[in-house]
Amino acid sequence: MGESSLSSAAITDNLGTRFIGQRVIYYPKLESTMDVAKRQAQKGAREGTVIIAGEQTAGRGRMKRGWLSPRGSIALSIILYPEMSYLSSLIMVASLGVVHCLEKVVGLKSQIKWPNDVLINGKKVCGILIESELKGNRADYATVGIGINVNIKLSDFPEILPTATSLSHELGRDVSRLDMVRCLLAEIERLYLALPSGDAVYQEWRDNLVTLGKKVQVRSKETTYEGIAESVASDGSLLLRQSDGSLTKIVAGDVTLQN
Ligand code: BTN
Repeated sequence: MGESSLSSAAITDNLGTRFIGQRVIYYPKLESTMDVAKRQAQKGAREGTVIIAGEQTAGRGRMKRGWLSPRGSIALSIILYPEMSYLSSLIMVASLGVVHCLEKVVGLKSQIKWPNDVLINGKKVCGILIESELKGNRADYATVGIGINVNIKLSDFPEILPTATSLSHELGRDVSRLDMVRCLLAEIERLYLALPSGDAVYQEWRDNLVTLGKKVQVRSKETTYEGIAESVASDGSLLLRQSDGSLTKIVAGDVTLQN
């Protein structure tokens, strides 16, 4: 599927959602969808507004890293106004949404590396970045950024070749970004709306984590921890059993699997 298929109208047409993707702002080329989403949220854009770019020139990743999003990838940000208590669940909603759509749209099985990298056969195919602004003790807004390597020839990008994969690489053919984006918006809305009904999203996210039970190294701010990734709490934090028997709760960090 070519660039022309990814337009605001094509994404929104008969999408069937209540609010996510009912307003889509498409840019053929943009520095980062996160910046535009933030500005839109600060102006009070309606909930579910999506900023999507055909390609990004200064994509942002977690832990102040960059994110490569050449033509052929998916780069989008969704504006949400969640209740404070649901803020930590957004990583679960977004990563599970991606896992479901990879299976539904292209039949690929994937796993989640804590907190929200999506892997296929151990290689990263999707990164998720959630930024939020608090107002007093409530969430003012959150922007959920999703980057997926869709139709990307990995040999053109030697810097990510050892650790990343793309859908076209896995399947040996190009994939419709439009179908994937429409699935994502519908699935993310379904999971987001399910949050008040209980723990189902947390439990499914936990069950899809490739990290649990593994020996890991976790870099969190200035500290590096090592141990067994024993479990995750319902707020999304990782419970790490260290060699001295202690259990450490890690809210954010970067995991390297050691076995
Ligand atoms: C990571 O794994 O470090 C997170 C990567 C998040 C990338 C997406 S692409 C869409 C949105 N815009 C950005 O600049 N970043 C996020």
